[in-house]
Amino acid sequence: MPDESDSPSDIEVIKQRKREGIVIPLTRNVQAKESSTYLEYVKLIHNALPEIDFDAVETNQKFLSHHFKAPIIIDSMTGGTPEATKINSRLSLAAEKFGLGMGLGSQRAGLLSSELAETYSIARSNAPNGFLVANIGGAQLSKGLKIKEIRNMIEMIEADALVVHLNPLQELIQPEGEPKYKGVLSKIKEICTNFDIPIIVKEVGAGISMEVAKRLQSAGVSAINIAGSGGTSWAGVEKLRAETAHDSNKINLGELFWDWGIPTAVSLIEVRKSVKIPVIASGGIRNGLEIAKCIALGANMCGMAFPFLRHASKSLESLYEFTNRTLLELRGAMFLVGSKNINELGKSRFIVTGELAKVK
Ligand SMILES: Cc1cc2nc3c(=O)[nH]c(=O)nc-3n(C[C@H](O)[C@H](O)[C@H](O)COP(=O)(O)O)c2cc1C
Repeated sequence: MPDESDSPSDIEVIKQRKREGIVIPLTRNVQAKESSTYLEYVKLIHNALPEIDFDAVETNQKFLSHHFKAPIIIDSMTGGTPEATKINSRLSLAAEKFGLGMGLGSQRAGLLSSELAETYSIARSNAPNGFLVANIGGAQLSKGLKIKEIRNMIEMIEADALVVHLNPLQELIQPEGEPKYKGVLSKIKEICTNFDIPIIVKEVGAGISMEVAKRLQSAGVSAINIAGSGGTSWAGVEKLRAETAHDSNKINLGELFWDWGIPTAVSLIEVRKSVKIPVIASGGIRNGLEIAKCIALGANMCGMAFPFLRHASKSLESLYEFTNRTLLELRGAMFLVGSKNINELGKSRFIVTGELAKVK
C-alpha cells in the first residue's frame, strides 16, 4: 500500500492498514472500471518472415547498470504487516529465479519495529543478487521524513535503487489522507543529491504527464515509472476503506475518481517523447504481449503489481507458472515481430488506432 498519513501512528493500526492494502485488492475488484490502459489500441506489426528461430529470442535487458533476464519489475507493493512476509518472500524468490527487479512497499512502517523491518528484509535474504527497490512516499518527504530515516530504509533491504511514489489521488480519497504536496519536488531534488543509488519516481496508477516528467528529469531523478491508469485503482481501494469508515464524502470522491488518471499508453508515449532518462511502463499491464507493446512504445522496463500479488498469494508454484507464461508471451510477441532481443523490439514498428490515435 502506498505510504499513508501519520496519524494514528500506533503500530497495530499501521499493520491493519497495510493488511487492508493487500486484502482489499485480493478480495474485492479494485481494477479500473470504465477506463483502460489504451494498450489495446497499439498493434505490433506481424512479420511473416521473422528470419529467426523462436529459441534464439532472448529477453535480457540492462537498466540502471544492472543486468536483468527480462525487462520486468515486480512493482512496489507490500511490507509492514506479518501477512506481507509470505508475499514478499515468494515475490523475491521469483525475482531471483527469473532475474527480474522487485519493488518493496512503502517502508516507513519498517522503521517502527524490527518485526516489521523483517517483512521487507526477507526480500534481500531470498534475492541476494536481485535488483531491489526501496520505497517512500512523496507526501512523507514534504512532511519532513529525514535523510537518516531514508538511509535506514535503504539499508533495510540493501536497496539497489530508491523509489519515491507520488499518490495525490490516494491521499485525497484516503479517509485519514493528508493531500499535502507543497514542496515535494524540491525534496526529491534534495534526495537526488544526497544518495548515490538511483532515484526513481513513480506514480501508483494515475500516470505521469510530460510536464511532470520534465520537472522530474530537471530535479535529477534517474528514471520514471509512469504507473498509468487502467489497472489497480487506489481511488477504488480507498473508496472501499471509506465505506468501512462511514465517510460519505470520501466514498463519493472515490467513486467519482475511480477511473481518474492518464491511461498507461498515453502516459508512456508522452513521457518517452519528453525526457531522455529511462522509463518504466506500468499500470494495468497484464501479459507478455502488453509488455512487448510497451517496449515498442519506448519503455526500458515494465512493471506489474496486481498480477504478481494475485499469484504470490496463492502459491509459489502459481507465481512461477504465471511468470513463465508471461515470459513465453513476451518471447512469442518478439518472434512474431522478428525481434531477437529487447533492443530490436524497442525499434519495432507499431500502429496506433482508436482512442489512442486521437490523443494529441
Ligand atoms: C497491493 C498493492 C500495494 C501497493 N503498494 C504500493 C506501495 O507501497 N508503493 C508504491 O509505490 N506503489 C504501490 N502500489 C502501486 C503499484 O506499484 C503499481 O504502481 C500500481 O498498482 C499499478 O500497477 P498494476 O495495475 O499492475 O497493479 C501497490 C499496488 C498494489 C496492487
